[in-house]
Amino acid sequence: MKKREKWGSKIGFIMAAAGSAVGLGNIWKFPYTAGENGGGAFVLIYLIFVALIGFSVMLAEFAVGRRKNLAAVGAYKSVDKRWTFAGVLGVLSGLLIMGFYPVVGGWALAYIFKVFNGLLSSPDQIGDVFSSFIVNPTQPLIWMGIYLLLNVVIVSRGVSSGIEKAGKILMPLLFLILIVITIKGLTLKGAFAGVAFLFKPDFSKITAKVLLSALGQAFFSLSLGMGCMITYGSYLDKKENLVSNAGLVTAMDTGVALLAGLAMFPAMFAFNMEPAAGPGLVFVVVPQLFADMGSVGLIFAGLFFLALTVAALTSSVSLLEVVVAYFMDERNMSRIKAVTVSASIMIIMCVLASLSLGGIGPKILGKGLFDVFDLLTDKIFLAIGGLLLAVFAGWKLDKEELRNEVTNGGAVKFGLFGFWYALIKYIIPFTIAIVAASGIYSGFQSGVGGLMLLGVGIIIVLGVFSKKL
Ligand code: TRP
Repeated sequence: MKKREKWGSKIGFIMAAAGSAVGLGNIWKFPYTAGENGGGAFVLIYLIFVALIGFSVMLAEFAVGRRKNLAAVGAYKSVDKRWTFAGVLGVLSGLLIMGFYPVVGGWALAYIFKVFNGLLSSPDQIGDVFSSFIVNPTQPLIWMGIYLLLNVVIVSRGVSSGIEKAGKILMPLLFLILIVITIKGLTLKGAFAGVAFLFKPDFSKITAKVLLSALGQAFFSLSLGMGCMITYGSYLDKKENLVSNAGLVTAMDTGVALLAGLAMFPAMFAFNMEPAAGPGLVFVVVPQLFADMGSVGLIFAGLFFLALTVAALTSSVSLLEVVVAYFMDERNMSRIKAVTVSASIMIIMCVLASLSLGGIGPKILGKGLFDVFDLLTDKIFLAIGGLLLAVFAGWKLDKEELRNEVTNGGAVKFGLFGFWYALIKYIIPFTIAIVAASGIYSGFQSGVGGLMLLGVGIIIVLGVFSKKL
């Protein structure tokens, strides 16, 4: 067996795993999803899911990846051929997420330049600029193309050099700018209503839809449920402490999401914007917030979108890496060939996804492809992928084998091992199944139930043909 590429250093792994987790999911998706799902109640459930399900699944992904020393598909397959589909489902999720993620990454990239091209000089038009930009049939495509190309360059250069370096550079900067935005937002008149909206749960808002959204958001934000952290774990040294690594990555990711919420909502309430403003949230609130600060505001806004682009890049390279690792490990391709094949599929999907926002192109069950790719992964594939991983770890792997891996053969103290194991084996699969089933049921009221069932159907078909995959 050829020697597996390894992380250059411990800090390199943390930065790369945190870099994978922290991305558009935290800063673009979390605030508007919280806004659409009633604020505080959603945030509370999200936090509970992150602590109980997210952390545990991440630890399980790290453990499975390092134990098997293989990326997702290989790790499943090496234990039982009938489980191959669980890994392939992850690769499919990676492809689908990369069918819309670079579109939004392209927006972030475009906004670095828009900020310096006079966007901030007419604050009352900032909202219209965004809505006409994303429906434009050509402009966003160019930015998306550049964004995807950056991914290709990073991933073709291999694990330790490419991903690690990208991860180390601008993450701390992003954190600092979010703090500046938060402080600026909190000083505005009427800002406190935003803090209350985010942190004061209104329990009557909790519905099956909110539960599934919170679950999907937890998986998406932590990069779980598609074998990404299995793949990253397989590059991890035997001496590293998996428990503390999983804890640290979970904490950083959740911290950034909450900070992003705190950066957006007070300002939105001060500006009298609707909390459910949707996907344009960051692209409208941040420029508006800095519009009255002159050239200082210009620099802050520019740096924000630069940092957002880099955060998005360190996430999307991890998605691309999962697909690339599949082609390399399972299809015997060279890294360059694997990257070329993956990126070619992605660019077609992204073009269709981007055009769908302007109402152009095919629809599936009434939804444009941007929404289809998002909905299938965020609401179905990731959560079911997490369920499958938990069942796999709990029922197909030996308990002592897992204990050994998680504690590095007894060297690492993990007093909660028994609790974690019970969560993985029984509680998490059961909870995900209930939340997903009731979410799909309620999806029929908002017209997305059919798509969700289609997602379940795809998983079943993959399962049936698993041995052939
Ligand atoms: N977590 C990233 C974000 O928040 C997106 C992402 C990267 C992801 N890798 C993933 C989502 C794997 C699900 C699975 O932007």
